[in-house]
Amino acid sequence: MSRPGDYDAVRKDIIAQLKKPDYDDGSAGPVFVRLAWHSAGTYDLETDTGGSNGAGMRYEAEGGDPPTPASSTAGPSSSPSRRNTPGSHTPICSPRGRLPDAAQGAEHLRAVFYRMGFNDQEIVALAGGHNLGRCHIDRSGFQGPWVNNPTRFSNQFFKLLLKLDWKPKTLPNGVSQFVYVDPDAEEGDEPLMMLPTDIALKTDPAFRVWVEKYADDKDLFFDHFAKAFAKLMELGIKRDENDRVINADNVKGGYISAPKKSNHPTGPAKGAQGGCPVAASQGGCPRAKL
Ligand code: HEM
Repeated sequence: MSRPGDYDAVRKDIIAQLKKPDYDDGSAGPVFVRLAWHSAGTYDLETDTGGSNGAGMRYEAEGGDPPTPASSTAGPSSSPSRRNTPGSHTPICSPRGRLPDAAQGAEHLRAVFYRMGFNDQEIVALAGGHNLGRCHIDRSGFQGPWVNNPTRFSNQFFKLLLKLDWKPKTLPNGVSQFVYVDPDAEEGDEPLMMLPTDIALKTDPAFRVWVEKYADDKDLFFDHFAKAFAKLMELGIKRDENDRVINADNVKGGYISAPKKSNHPTGPAKGAQGGCPVAASQGGCPRAKL
């Protein structure tokens, strides 16, 4: 049990949870990274709502994006698997729609990440989170790892994105992703994969500049990733000169929740706030019309 503010104890507790020999590739690290990003990624700069300050993900309004079919039980203990990426194999955006939909492209990524206050360079750096972990068909509907060693952080994701010949593939569940089938693969080898949003980083000229830099220069990527990830974690958090969080209360202008999600997964919320950002700015989420 740790005292409030005893971050060393919290770090130790997290480290103790990382090794999971029987889970995925042997570590809960990747899913923890994803948990942290999803907790922070609901932030909206304009309204100063959402984000990880206040740990609002504990509550239904933040953590309650409906799980995709058959997705609610997978994962290690303390898994954030209920927070699967919204909408990726359902014909709708997430009701609240603040996290990105992996089936979409560059404009959607910009709509989502600009809303949090990131620029193109930071978007590409953050997407390098996909050097870790894998997709699970029973969570997001996508399947497979991005890199050969998904528990070691590197810039391999960017190298492979540029180097390999990614072919579209429709999975048995109807979800489309990109795969690389190694001609020398042996029976049972798992093909590497990319999400449509990952491929958009390569095809969009402004994103591609950064993909090339990060593929070439691991140190640059690590430096930019560390800065962008720290910024992500701090969204909506204010600190005093001693680094103490000063807006952690729920009463005096501290944490303000993202808008309550719709009770029915029938499409983006009406109006600008809380709905799919694409819907808000471009007259309707394309997926909601399918
Ligand atoms: C750019 C927009 C993004 C999209 C569309 C996206 C989408 C996804 C999807 C569909 C999965 C698979 C989930 C599953 O089936 O278990 C996933 C996994 C993951 N994402 Fe992202 N993601 C994005 C950005 C990020 C960012 C910014 C980070 C962290 C910096 C991140 C880190 C991860 C990690 C570590 C996993 C693997 C989780 C695991 O192994 O269980 N992603 N992402």
